[in-house]
Amino acid sequence: MSLDTPATKPHDRLRTVLAADLDGVNGLIQARMASEHAPRIPEVTAHLVEAGGKRIRPMLTLAAARLCGYSGDNHVKLAATVEFIHTATLLHDDVVDESGQRRGRPTANLLWDNKSSVLVGDYLFARAFQLMVETGSLRVLDILSNAAATIAEGEVLQLTAASNIETTEGIYLQVIRGKTAALFESACEVGGVIADQPDDIVRALATYGDGLGVAFQMADDLLDWGGATGDAKAIGKNIGDDFRERKLTLPVIRAIAAADAEQRAFWVRTIGKGDQRDGDLDHALGLLRDHGTLAATRDAANSYVAQAKAALAPLPDHEIKHLMLDLADYVVARLN
Ligand code: IPE
Ligand code: IPE
Ligand code: MG
Ligand code: MG
Repeated sequence: MSLDTPATKPHDRLRTVLAADLDGVNGLIQARMASEHAPRIPEVTAHLVEAGGKRIRPMLTLAAARLCGYSGDNHVKLAATVEFIHTATLLHDDVVDESGQRRGRPTANLLWDNKSSVLVGDYLFARAFQLMVETGSLRVLDILSNAAATIAEGEVLQLTAASNIETTEGIYLQVIRGKTAALFESACEVGGVIADQPDDIVRALATYGDGLGVAFQMADDLLDWGGATGDAKAIGKNIGDDFRERKLTLPVIRAIAAADAEQRAFWVRTIGKGDQRDGDLDHALGLLRDHGTLAATRDAANSYVAQAKAALAPLPDHEIKHLMLDLADYVVARLN
């Protein structure tokens, strides 16, 4: 199949269009993830970086800058900064979530230990800050340091909301805006800033990134239940990790809101108290299906996709813009 057929995934097509810039980003990541003094650092970072990752966030920075006609090379530094921040949060997240798999490989916390993951994550955060300082833009520093703080706030808010069945949709949105959408938003925003765009264009890019990030995390949360149909076989992955971890995601929050007394008692036992037995996951999935909350979550994600796409209206008509529009659709379309 040729790379530009419509069947190719939009992030693969973006990768092709941005290939030269992305080579620069990957080179910078390789150079800056090393450490002369602590061999554990390159061991851990190489493990994670060599596993790949979709590079969606750095591609957004490159795409936004190119779409705005930028011709310098600071966008490459910013894209690497964004990927370093992302990688650092993944190292920390897998410790917090006690996860055993990341990017199809055993996690660093499993292969080494929690201490290494936390400290190497800190190192990557610091490397991210060094890189963005090199651009000399205080505005970019402001945006990305705010994003780093907001991600941490989102993760901590999620931690304190876990197992609380009173968690509202408002809290859920605050969590996912923090832990996920903030970096998508700022990745897009700094692309416009570095290209010296007027405020309305920078705002438009940020709004696109926010909508895309919220939809991305809602889709990720749906995949944990087997997608919008709750059919794990069609998706080809395990379901129920969030249920076992007692995380309140949108399908569950809505099912709890619609629950009768008996159903509410089920959620109190399994998520509130963490008393989970054989068959509970299937029963939970049945409740989500009965209340239509999987489809409703897909619809909610789609409304954020629509917001993201509408935001790009003031941007010039360009191949990259079309790929960004397709990427927004794909985030939810991959569920079907
Ligand atoms: C994983 O993000 C973390 C979430 C926000 C769900 P990605 O799915 O973009 O991770 P990689 O970088 O491609 O592995
Ligand atoms: C990923 O969040 C980490 C951040 C967004 C900071 P999750 O815990 O929801 O996602 P996965 O499933 O580990 O990728
Ligand atoms: Mg996790
Ligand atoms: Mg997590």
